[in-house]
Amino acid sequence: MQVISEVALLRDQVSQWKKMDKRIAFVPTMGNLHQGHLTLVRKAREQGDIVVVSIFVNPMQFDRADDLANYPRTLDEDLTQLREEGVDLVFTPTPDTLYPQGVEAHTTVEVPKLSIMLEGASRPGHFRGVATVVSKLFHLVQPSIACFGEKDFQQLAVIRKLVADMAMPIEVIGVPTVRESDGLAMSSRNNNLTVDERQRAPVLAKTMRWMSAQMRNGRRDLDDLIEDAHDQLRAAGLKPDEFYIRDASSLAQISEESRQAVILVAAYLGNTRLIDNLTVDLLRAADKADKADISGD
Ligand code: PAF
Repeated sequence: MQVISEVALLRDQVSQWKKMDKRIAFVPTMGNLHQGHLTLVRKAREQGDIVVVSIFVNPMQFDRADDLANYPRTLDEDLTQLREEGVDLVFTPTPDTLYPQGVEAHTTVEVPKLSIMLEGASRPGHFRGVATVVSKLFHLVQPSIACFGEKDFQQLAVIRKLVADMAMPIEVIGVPTVRESDGLAMSSRNNNLTVDERQRAPVLAKTMRWMSAQMRNGRRDLDDLIEDAHDQLRAAGLKPDEFYIRDASSLAQISEESRQAVILVAAYLGNTRLIDNLTVDLLRAADKADKADISGD
């Protein structure tokens, strides 16, 4: 497995693979790898001839300096895991390599609407940072396939639109969220939880499952449903930050045309902000209730 941090070396290797007509499958990450990331790597291995992983804690997508500083960095352990997965190349640039004149001076990529709603509204600039770094990494790695986790549901939507709008010849594959046995979505941020917080964290997934069951049983008062869900999280000591029920394909409000909804949640547990999501099949719900009445935020 090659570990490369220089752009010129990466470009040389990529152009050699391109000459050999190899299909590169790419998994961009910020490191601190867990089973969720390894599932992406395995998907990439299935789909491509060559697997490239990037590890880069992207300063442009952090809206809080303390969050960037506290983001877990475990490069040696990450490389050991990627070696075991048979990854071909790991790209580990420094911030100076990707942003030689600093983050503020760098050209940015903005995906309209999707970037400023929901999570983007509460974390201004976050999706600009994601779209910019992912565009740059795509230019450098030139993948045919790129794998992203569905856990970051809105991020996946932003990247799909970026790729479609800019006519990038890349197939974006969304990979289902990997969960711990108690339902907690795997995330690098879980490492920041205390033992007590870790015990309480599964309430996030449990609450979404409860909401999903309510909707499938025909519950239509989505604003009240979200309020009830807030109460469940607060009772377990979490501080809800964002809670939405949206159309899963557009992230717009649920309408008569909506076939699938997505519940999107972000909540603080101590200082750790956890996110999760769950899709709900509204067509099945419509058997029990008139779907046209489903509305709310
Ligand atoms: O999902 C992540 O880890 C990051 O947002 C990504 C896609 C690697 C961009 O920095």
